[in-house]
Amino acid sequence: MLKIIRLEQTDSTNSFISRNIADLEADTVVCADCQSAGRGQRGNSWEAEPFRNLTFSILLCPKNFPAIRQFAISEAVALAIVRAVKQLCAVELKIKWPNDIYYNNKKICGILIEHAVMGKEILHTIIGIGLNVNQQKFVSDAPNPVSLYQISGSETDLDSLLHKISTDIINLIPEITLCDKFNELHSEYMLNLWRGDGREYVFRDTASGQIFPGIVSHIEPTGHLNVKDTSTGDYRRFAFKEVEWVI
Ligand code: BTN
Repeated sequence: MLKIIRLEQTDSTNSFISRNIADLEADTVVCADCQSAGRGQRGNSWEAEPFRNLTFSILLCPKNFPAIRQFAISEAVALAIVRAVKQLCAVELKIKWPNDIYYNNKKICGILIEHAVMGKEILHTIIGIGLNVNQQKFVSDAPNPVSLYQISGSETDLDSLLHKISTDIINLIPEITLCDKFNELHSEYMLNLWRGDGREYVFRDTASGQIFPGIVSHIEPTGHLNVKDTSTGDYRRFAFKEVEWVI
């Protein structure tokens, strides 16, 4: 049975878990109808119309999980979202490396993963998910938002989606410590990768600002993205935030 804490309002479901971690069991899901200070990646905020979207976090306490394999958790989370939306809404989404979820060139879901590491292992992980579901219009200055409603023209039951995504994530985590499962999941991640179709796209090296044409080659288990620079023929390797696509 899924353990769900439902809050009408909180600042941020990630922060709620963080503050109450001593009292929460592993695999608890905290879902809020409204967040007053939703947090995004890179210190950004996350805005979502109350009651019309999913904003929730899951506390994971994986056993003996090496910190250097933490990207596998991102992969599992992103895939669980893509699978659930495909199954329940018949909408095909893509994963924008490392873990945004896109529909065409628009962002439908953001993921904020916060790990606590002790020694070489993950002590616990807070997975925060903001999925635009039934919102009809976006008024904030988020650059390119889209919702499931805008794609499919119909409303989706928030609870069913919450249950499916959370259950899938909780079940996938112990599996990814097994080598075969990890490889399987990684292949599925690559198949669902946004702009991972072997075609040329334009990238920006964020450190130098250099713009270059390239083709995604592969992603390492550490999460490093390898891109073939088609202007030079060289392979370039990037950690998170070191490269972005020009859209
Ligand atoms: C991003 O910037 O793409 C990540 C956004 C993550 C938003 C979710 S909403 C639920 C959880 N609580 C937060 O404060 N943030 C995450």
